Amino acid sequence: MKTITKPLALTAAITLSLAASAWAAPTAATAGTDAFTVLSLEQAPKWLDAKDVAAQLQAMNVDALTIANVHREADTSGTSHAPDPLEALADQLGYSYRFVRADPASAERRGSIVISRLPVEAESGVEAPGMNYLRLNDGRHVVALYTHTAAADGARFKQLIDASRVGAPAVLLGANDAAVSGFDANGEVARSNGFQSASSTAVKLRIDADSPAIAGKLLTLGYAAPVGGDTPWMDTSLNADARARLIVAKMTDDEKFQMLHSYFGLGKDGGPLPEGAVGSAGFVPGVARLGIPSQQSADAGVGVTNPGGIRKGDHATAMPSGPSTASSWNPEVAFAGGATMGREAWQQRFNILLAGSVNLQRDPRNGRNFEYAGEDPLLAGRLVGESIRGVQSQHVVSTMKHFALNDMETSRNFHSAEIGEQAMRESDLLAFEIALDIGKPGSVMCSYNRINGIYGCEHDYLMNQVLKQEWKFPGFVMSDWGGVHSGSKAALAGLDQQSAGEVFDKAVYFDEPLRLAVNGGVVPRARLDDMVSRILRAMFANGNFDLPPQHQPIDDAAGFAAAQRTVEEGSVLLRNANKLLPLGPEIKRIVIIGGHADKGVIGGGGSSMVGWTAKGTNAVPGVLPTTWPGPVIFHPSSPLEALRAERPDARIDYVDGRDVAAAARAAAAADVAIVFATQWSAESVDLPHMKLPDNQDALIAGVAKANPKTVVVLETNGPVELPWLQQVPAVLQAWYPGIRGGEGIAALLTGKVNPSGRLPVTWPVDASQLPRPEVNGLGFNPKHKPDDTIDYNIEGANVGYKWFAAKGLTPQFAFGHGLSYTTFTYENLSATSMGQRLVATVDIRNTGKVAGADVAQLYLKMPEGSATPIRLIGFQKVTLQPGESRRIRIEAEPKTLASFDTADKQWKIAEGRYELQLSRSANEPVETSAFVLGDEVVR
Ligand code: BGC
Repeated sequence: MKTITKPLALTAAITLSLAASAWAAPTAATAGTDAFTVLSLEQAPKWLDAKDVAAQLQAMNVDALTIANVHREADTSGTSHAPDPLEALADQLGYSYRFVRADPASAERRGSIVISRLPVEAESGVEAPGMNYLRLNDGRHVVALYTHTAAADGARFKQLIDASRVGAPAVLLGANDAAVSGFDANGEVARSNGFQSASSTAVKLRIDADSPAIAGKLLTLGYAAPVGGDTPWMDTSLNADARARLIVAKMTDDEKFQMLHSYFGLGKDGGPLPEGAVGSAGFVPGVARLGIPSQQSADAGVGVTNPGGIRKGDHATAMPSGPSTASSWNPEVAFAGGATMGREAWQQRFNILLAGSVNLQRDPRNGRNFEYAGEDPLLAGRLVGESIRGVQSQHVVSTMKHFALNDMETSRNFHSAEIGEQAMRESDLLAFEIALDIGKPGSVMCSYNRINGIYGCEHDYLMNQVLKQEWKFPGFVMSDWGGVHSGSKAALAGLDQQSAGEVFDKAVYFDEPLRLAVNGGVVPRARLDDMVSRILRAMFANGNFDLPPQHQPIDDAAGFAAAQRTVEEGSVLLRNANKLLPLGPEIKRIVIIGGHADKGVIGGGGSSMVGWTAKGTNAVPGVLPTTWPGPVIFHPSSPLEALRAERPDARIDYVDGRDVAAAARAAAAADVAIVFATQWSAESVDLPHMKLPDNQDALIAGVAKANPKTVVVLETNGPVELPWLQQVPAVLQAWYPGIRGGEGIAALLTGKVNPSGRLPVTWPVDASQLPRPEVNGLGFNPKHKPDDTIDYNIEGANVGYKWFAAKGLTPQFAFGHGLSYTTFTYENLSATSMGQRLVATVDIRNTGKVAGADVAQLYLKMPEGSATPIRLIGFQKVTLQPGESRRIRIEAEPKTLASFDTADKQWKIAEGRYELQLSRSANEPVETSAFVLGDEVVR
């Protein structure tokens, strides 16, 4: 931030009338101190004036410009589909731009716009409607800007700051006014807020002689003097890098090396927990002398785990699986899920959550697909990024994992994922890149497997060149548990912290061996300091020092609400012939069959399993395997009970389905039969095939024969073969639906909630359609031993629907497919582009009789001859009442328009004729528009 020249003082507002085309210079201000300046304007400059504004903004050098009460779609140029002029302006300046939506529930997308010359370090999500924050970082200080559109509400503002500011000085903007937290009504300065003074100057901006002036206010805030003393790093106005630098300078070698390896938080060989560990995946002792907190890390992406119930009395919300969140196509759902997990982690004494899994689904048999977010880099990257942002909004560091290409579990500790550079950049790495950009995780976990022959945790290209240099990742890379094979080699390749090496690796390479390497000059001391700084930086940036976790009871009701919303938005109605669903009032006799649906819903196994919940532990104990990667868990959320609660007027029976003939008899006697089919899947092992296990196909076929009104509810890791599909009119994919699975499924089946999930993966007919129909070593007792390599060059960047399009294959269900109880039409697709920004608008109408949400999917058909035929480039979920129509705006992610040029290390849009498709799924374009794009390098 800039230094200004007179002492700061609170001054009365002065109204200046400025010369045309000039911003007010902050003449009434202040001197000698670092200050933050923000200009709030009462209205947006017109489109045509944006360039003028750009020049003036640059000359004036304000840190941030904000305009309240802007309609996002509204546009002063009169062409509502034009790219936002202010956004384009920010692009030109290289400034960050944020539209901070005021109220997610409101149809009118009103909010504040913030443009800043400073990078955005973090931002709140949509959890605080009407009051969102951005943290800006000028290289030394951080400032939290809060925006609102309603009148300032001091008490609520204070609450929000306490809950989210992570110590940074805070400013409330909006409603043509700006207030400073910490300054009371009389203008008294509260030192603790990080500012010691403020001055406010009213300004009027005239663009030209004919236009009315734009009024605004320039606020100049002087930072408080540094904290100094013994703990200068506790100055919360300093940014995380500055704080980390200050503390690292005071650390001894022993203290530094202590940071570089964690212990298994559950103890070695069943022995006692490491001293100070609360009981979880990882633990690094703190340094009391300097006030460095210990690092307590817990798994993982579907809730906070409590392995073996080690922390007596602790429980958490078992969230629906990753594909369920991804199927919502709703960033708000992903953020809320992440915030739930982050909050519960913090309340159980964790400051690191090993969440943020974003490996792409390349094969439905991958045992860990339930932890991931599907096959598309844009959808997965965006939603996992939001989830990471949600976790970190709760002062908990999130990881992003498993970096990279750990896309199969078979022989994961040694297999090599073979893939060319361009292909990996445009597929798996693009998902990581987008998630990193949105979520800004404090940590990244490198993967077990090798990539083109080199271990993930020794991969200089991935960790140093791509992640740290190109993507400018400022945080730390931790290894997966058992993923380290060397000390200096790994450290030089970019690994910063070894995880639980005393249990899972051959040696604790990052202890003695690394000390020897540093002392012998093999690893530079600067690299040692870099490793430590990165860890501490992540901790500072996420509030680990300022807002340490406190053991508290978790808010079960809030957790349940987040989990249920995810099931409701994330379950996918795959088929609904003859409108069998929703179950109408005329249906009085229902039989529920199989899947332990009387007791609960199945969850995935391995390190991410959330076994202890507010409703107890496993509802169906004893299902094999009962040991790692088991036990098989059924969360206590009974679909049978939930459906009975929804439909007290109906008779609803349960039959376990082990006897197909008995199930068929019960089905014949009912108005409707609902079969629950489950498929357990787990970390460390892949599924042997794509078939439902345990005779369930025969059960479904038998029931469907006895009663044509049969519904199948699938609780699976991902796509499975559906040999009975033509006999079954309705199929709902509920994935692993978590602790509110029963309630969510019941609400969808009865129509209390209208399904709005869309597949985040292509659903193949069977494995013959996959790039690798046969893979050696799948399953628990494979016939053949696994191969050393997995050849991802077969499909390269054409993962999922791109593969199907390239090969002309027709899947069972396309990527993006999902039905609703209402219908939507699209009209008037139009698009404009400016530089790398491509914006499409389209009218969507709900033409049915019930309210519902649709996902408008924007694809780009690439020019003839492109290696990848089609790409998802943007999407927008929208809720519409019956008969309601809305014009929505979808902005394409620039990198999805481009190809990665491996020579220049740049994303380039190639000139050519493209076709935009507004589609119901990757295979169902509804509106198309031919489009020419020019050559462009994506910034
Ligand atoms: C998994 C990670 C997990 C770690 C700690 C590993 O086996 O691959 O995802 O975070 O264990 O439990």
